[in-house]
Amino acid sequence: MLEVIKKRCSVRRYQATPVPEEAIGQLLEAARWAPSAGNLQPWFFYVVRSQGVKECLAAAALEQRFIAQAPVVIVVCAEPERSGRVYGERGRRLYCYQDTAAAVQNILLAATAMGLGTCWVGAFHEDRVRECLAVPPHRVPVAIIPVGYPAEEPVHRTTRREPEEIVSYV
Ligand SMILES: Cc1cc2nc3c(=O)[nH]c(=O)nc-3n(C[C@H](O)[C@H](O)[C@H](O)COP(=O)(O)O)c2cc1C
Repeated sequence: MLEVIKKRCSVRRYQATPVPEEAIGQLLEAARWAPSAGNLQPWFFYVVRSQGVKECLAAAALEQRFIAQAPVVIVVCAEPERSGRVYGERGRRLYCYQDTAAAVQNILLAATAMGLGTCWVGAFHEDRVRECLAVPPHRVPVAIIPVGYPAEEPVHRTTRREPEEIVSYV
């Protein structure tokens, strides 16, 4: 597991090779089994293969063109009221987004294990993403995840803060 966690890195160039339906199914399966507060599973996933919708998403995401170049894009949404009904403001403002983020990370890790490249894209105009997919008001777009076979060997270009800086043993 740690190997996969460390291997995952953001991939922003993809081969045109289609991603099999079965592989997408496995990514969604990984998402579905994420933990969630009260097991309320306050999430929803749009699987986008339409070139027109991918172009719309790329434009909504500040022209991050690699989104339109990926064979598949998964848009992950939160459903705040699903958590809010049980946990009130804490569910509405915090749990539903924590739960959804866990589902996103599950997708990224499963994709890595399957040799697929992904990137967690959070920089987008929410209203414009809503328009691309006709997202109803009770859903909030949280992440856009382009998925494809990497066009280059994925290598870590990023660094991590040292444990001494971020951990306190009490
Ligand atoms: C909440 C969130 C939003 C992000 N938004 C973007 C984005 O809009 N565009 C992008 O290219 N990468 C985005 N990233 C990816 C980060 O830049 C990347 O994870 C970070 O630099 C560490 O690199 P690594 O993923 O290769 O380990 C986002 C990551 C997170 C967690």
